[in-house]
Amino acid sequence: TGYVTLDSGYKNTGATRSAITFLDGEEGILRYRGYPIEQLAEKSSFIEVAYLLIYGALPTTAQLADFSNRITKHTLVHEDMRKIFDGFPTSTHPMAILSSLTCALTGFYPESLSPNQTPEEFDLNIVRLLAKISTIAAWTYKNSVGHPLNYPRNDLDYTSNFLYMMFSFPTEKYEINPVVVGALNKLLILHADHEQNCSTSTVRLVGSANASLYGSVSAGINALWGPLHGGSNQEVIEMLEAIEKDGGDTSKFIDKAKDKNNSFRLMGFGHRVYKNFDPRAKIIKKAADEVLHALGMQDSPLLKIAQELEQAALTDQYFVERKLYPNVDFYSGIIYKALGIPTEMFTVMFAMGRLPGWIAQWKEMRENKEPIGRPRQIYVGELERNYTAIGERA
Ligand code: CMC
Repeated sequence: TGYVTLDSGYKNTGATRSAITFLDGEEGILRYRGYPIEQLAEKSSFIEVAYLLIYGALPTTAQLADFSNRITKHTLVHEDMRKIFDGFPTSTHPMAILSSLTCALTGFYPESLSPNQTPEEFDLNIVRLLAKISTIAAWTYKNSVGHPLNYPRNDLDYTSNFLYMMFSFPTEKYEINPVVVGALNKLLILHADHEQNCSTSTVRLVGSANASLYGSVSAGINALWGPLHGGSNQEVIEMLEAIEKDGGDTSKFIDKAKDKNNSFRLMGFGHRVYKNFDPRAKIIKKAADEVLHALGMQDSPLLKIAQELEQAALTDQYFVERKLYPNVDFYSGIIYKALGIPTEMFTVMFAMGRLPGWIAQWKEMRENKEPIGRPRQIYVGELERNYTAIGERA
């Protein structure tokens, strides 16, 4: 059967050639299609970045207007999808609803299941998914708190429309705060792609079996939900709240994270690829400071605890030796919280941000005509045994 190399966790295995995202973990460099993440986070919009990732180039004014209009046109979801929400207990985690409803889109658009779509049909599926995910995401929240669901507003941009659907009530006028829109836009851009991470590899692997885009992304959403991946943004804030509740002593938690007999890890710290710093964390840390100041929340106790925790870890031998630095999730939750986004929705926000990356990677995999993903193994079980009747077993 040939020679098989063991690489548990794919630490050193290149699974594909990709022209989408460049990442240098030693130098802390991240670029989408060649553009530094710092420039995109500062100057671009989430929809422009989505276009860049999916189609490979920054759009012209006309291309961007066309792309945005097409997305806006598809933000409504089928009324029967609304009914699916009624079947979920209110205790259901929003990520479970998000992945279920993303997969359910295949039922409403069965043509999306065909592996032989024309480029126009395929493009329509992309636009639909980008459009509908924000409506579904906002509705998971409204459903969980028992509030009436808001229909999308086509006069608003992507980010503002999402905030409107999340926070507006029929009884009150909802004012869109440009600080909140700007912060969310930045966070979505920073999460938009990260080459072959766990959820993206999942999307590519599922798609390599000729499964549909919606089914593949639904699988990616479940991978992202894991606490070692996107789920860590929820865990970070819960950790910071636990420290606050415990009296604010960060050293106790640092000691716990270092204790090899304890499974506790400092959430939002460490990264498989970044061994110097995570460039996204640098931008987010600065943004957290700016957003909290702009919203008059600079005295947030959680921000103070996060800063203390970061400082303590960065000067602690355990973390220094292992090259553990704050990652993208360390400060993102503080911003989400300041924007009023509930903790359970943090990973949903990550999924909304990562969607263009998943789509771009799935499209690239298909266009490259990559073979079905099928890792090998090193078998370590019994060689051969004879079947014994049940009465004769020890
Ligand atoms: N707290 C304490 N110790 C840690 C941490 C941490 N957060 N992260 C890694 N270590 C230790 C680990 O115990 C191991 O120690 P030793 O060499 O003594 O056995 C060493 O550092 C190397 O860790 P590893 O688990 O082999 O590294 P990995 O590349 O497999 O894991 C990671 C990377 C991100 C899963 C891990 O650092 C971690 O669990 N971090 C906390 C969760 C987190 O913040 N995840 C978000 C990642 S960024 C966004 C995303 O991808 O979604």
